[in-house]
Amino acid sequence: MRVDAYEKVTGKALYGADRVLPGMAFAALALARTGRGRLISVDTSAAAAVPGVLAVETHFDLASPGFVMGGGFGFQSLQPMTDDHIAYRGQPIAIVVAETPVAATEAAEAITAEYEDEPTALHLDSEGATTLVQEEAIPLPFLADLKVGDADAVIDASPVTIEGTYEHPPQHAVPMELNGGVVHWDGDTLIVHEGTQNANALRFGLAQQLGIDAANIEVRSPYVGGGFGQKNSLLVHIGPLALVSKRLGRPVKLVLARTQTFHNGSFRPASRQRIRLGADETGKITAAVHEVDQQTSRHDLFPAMHTETSARLYGLSAYRGRQRLVQTDVQTPGYMRAPFESPSMFAFEQVVDELAYKVGRDPVELRLANDTDTDPISGLPFSTRYVADCLRRGAELFGWSGRNPEPRSMRADDGSLIGWGVAIGNYPCNTAATNATLTAGEDGRVTVAVDGHEMGQGIRSTIALHVAQDLGIPVGDVVVQVGDTTVGTQHLTAGSWGTASALPSVHSGLRELRKHLDVADTGDVEVAPAVAAVGHAVTVHADSVGPGQPADALAQSMTGHLAITGPEYPGFVTFSWIAHFVEVRVEPTTCRIRVPRVVSVADCGRVASPVTAASQVRGGVIWGIGAALREESMVDDRFGGFVNSTLEEYPVMVNADVHSIDVDFIDKPDYRYNPVGVKGLGEVSMVGAAAAVANAVHHATGRRHYRLPIRIEHVI
Ligand code: MOS
Repeated sequence: MRVDAYEKVTGKALYGADRVLPGMAFAALALARTGRGRLISVDTSAAAAVPGVLAVETHFDLASPGFVMGGGFGFQSLQPMTDDHIAYRGQPIAIVVAETPVAATEAAEAITAEYEDEPTALHLDSEGATTLVQEEAIPLPFLADLKVGDADAVIDASPVTIEGTYEHPPQHAVPMELNGGVVHWDGDTLIVHEGTQNANALRFGLAQQLGIDAANIEVRSPYVGGGFGQKNSLLVHIGPLALVSKRLGRPVKLVLARTQTFHNGSFRPASRQRIRLGADETGKITAAVHEVDQQTSRHDLFPAMHTETSARLYGLSAYRGRQRLVQTDVQTPGYMRAPFESPSMFAFEQVVDELAYKVGRDPVELRLANDTDTDPISGLPFSTRYVADCLRRGAELFGWSGRNPEPRSMRADDGSLIGWGVAIGNYPCNTAATNATLTAGEDGRVTVAVDGHEMGQGIRSTIALHVAQDLGIPVGDVVVQVGDTTVGTQHLTAGSWGTASALPSVHSGLRELRKHLDVADTGDVEVAPAVAAVGHAVTVHADSVGPGQPADALAQSMTGHLAITGPEYPGFVTFSWIAHFVEVRVEPTTCRIRVPRVVSVADCGRVASPVTAASQVRGGVIWGIGAALREESMVDDRFGGFVNSTLEEYPVMVNADVHSIDVDFIDKPDYRYNPVGVKGLGEVSMVGAAAAVANAVHHATGRRHYRLPIRIEHVI
C-alpha cells in the first residue's frame, strides 16, 4: 500500500519545479570550463542580447552556508559567484534569467570566460592531492579511528592470513527529479519550492546566506523525486536564485540540466580499501585491519565512515581501522545511498569470500561461524542482530545447497558460466530528534505533521499505516504532512533513520491524542464521535529523541542542524542487517554478465510497511548490481570534472537489466531500540549487493576483480 500512488500516477503530486506561478521567469546556469584557477573575465554581452533575457548576473553578495558536516547547512561551504576563485570544473560562473527556459539556456550557453588555469589533482594518487589523516584533520570523537586489541600482531600470529586492496570509482546519484525548483517572494517572505531531504537546512542556510531571519523563509518539499543523499542540504543555485527573484520582483524557476547535476551536487567519492584478515584453519576470523583513502574536495573535509560497519560485521577479537582523506579539485563529495557501507562491503566481503576458498569452507557456513551477539568495538550487545537468520533463510530460498564450490564448474544449457555468490551487509541505526503534531478533526480524519521527507521511499505511507493501525481507522482517513517547514521542523531525512525517527514521535502523539479524546490507550477509536464529544478538533504535539540522546537535540533540529545519535547507545549498539544471494551468468563468447536472480533477506526490526519496504530492498539490490557492473563517473583528465555526465554515458540499471529479485524479512521487532521496534532499511538494502555480484562473477569465471565496475572488457 502506497498512499500517494494515486497522486503520483495521475500527475497530481507536485514536485519542486512543478509550480507554475503568475509572472514566473526562468533561469539557467553558466558553468566554469576549467578545472581550477582564477576567473579573469566573463563576457555576458552575447547572453544579454538574446531576446527575452531579463538579467545576467555573475556576482552575488552571499555568505557561505557552511558545510553540512561541519555544522553548516550546505552540500559544500564554497558558494560560487562570490569571488574569482574556481575550485572545480562545472562551478557556476553566471546565472541568466529570461522569459522562457529556451532563451535562458541559449543565453547561458553564449557566456564565455577567461581563466588563469592552475594545475589540478583529480585522482587519489595525483600529484598535488593532499592526504590527511582524518582523525587529526577532524578531531571529533565519532570520527576517530576504531581500534580494539593489537590487530596487526594478531593477524601476523594467525595461521591463515589474507589481504586485498580494492578500488571504488566515483559514482553519481542520478535521481529522476533533477535538482532545481521555484523561488518567489511574498513581501519580505522568501518561499522556496525545491526537492530536498532537508527543508529546515535550506531554511536556516538561506537565512545565513542572505542575512535574513529564518522566520521569513518557507521551504516546501512535499514530494522528492529521489534524493539518495544528493538533496540532503542546501545546493549552490538556490541562494543566487533567491536574490535574482527579489531583484526582478518575479518568481523564478531553475531546473539544472542532467549534465549540470554531475557538478552541482554531491557524488560518491573515489575510495581505496585495503583489508587484511587473520583467521584460524576453520576460517574463524581473529582480527581485521581496514585502511581507507577517500577523496574529498579542497574546500571541505567530507568525513569517511567506512570502518564503522566493517568493525561490526563479525565477531572479531581485534580490529584496526584507519581512514585518510585525499583533497582533490572537485566539488565536495557527499552521501550517496550507503555512502561508505557499499564501497567498504564491496571490499570486505570479497576478502571474506577469498578466505572461504582458502580454508575450503562454504562461504555461508564461514559467515555463520563468525557471527556474534557482541559489538567488538564497544563490547556492548547488539540490541538485535538476525544476520544469521538472514543467511539461513536466504540460502534456503536461493537453493544454495545445490552450489558446486569449484569456480567455473556450473554451466547453463546455452554454455554460459553460472556463478553463485553471497555477501552480507550492515548499516548503522542512527536516530534523529523529531517533532509531530497530530490533529483529530470533526470529520473523523487525523492529520499528522511530522519531520520527514517523501522521496519515494514511502515514509508517508508508513506513517499513515501506523496511525491507521493504531486507531483502527481507514488509511484514507489519515493525512500525512512532511517536507514542509510551515507545518513542522523538517529535520534531514537520510541515513535510513526516517521511519525509526518519525514513528516514535507519532506513536507518543497518538497516546497523547487518545488522552485528549478521552478514549482508551489502545484499541479501535471512533474518531468523529470522540471529537464531537470534546466539542472541537483536537491538536496535540509530541516529540522524540534517540535512546540516551540529550533533549537539546530538539533545539538543534529546530535550528536546521543535524540532531542524530547512534549507532552506539547507552547499553547497546544497533545495526540493520542483510544477506544477498546472487546468480550471474557469463556468456562465454561475448562475456556479457547477466544477473537472472537475487534473493535478499533483511533484518530491519519490525517491518512497518511491507509494500514500500520490499520496494526499498529491490531498489537497493538493483543499485548494487549497477554499482558492480555499470556505474563509474569518468574523470576528465584534460579539464577536470566528470566526462560521462549524461544518462546515455552514465549507464544505470534499467528494467531490461533486472530479472527476479526475491525479498524477505526476518520481521522481528527491536523494542530496545525504540517503542515501535523499527530499525532502518533503505540503505542496508544496497550494502553487500555489489560484493555478492562480484563473488558470483568470481565463482563463474575463477577471477577476482579488485576494481569496480566489472565490465565485459574485464572478464574477457
Ligand atoms: Mo542518504 S545517502 O543518507 O540520503
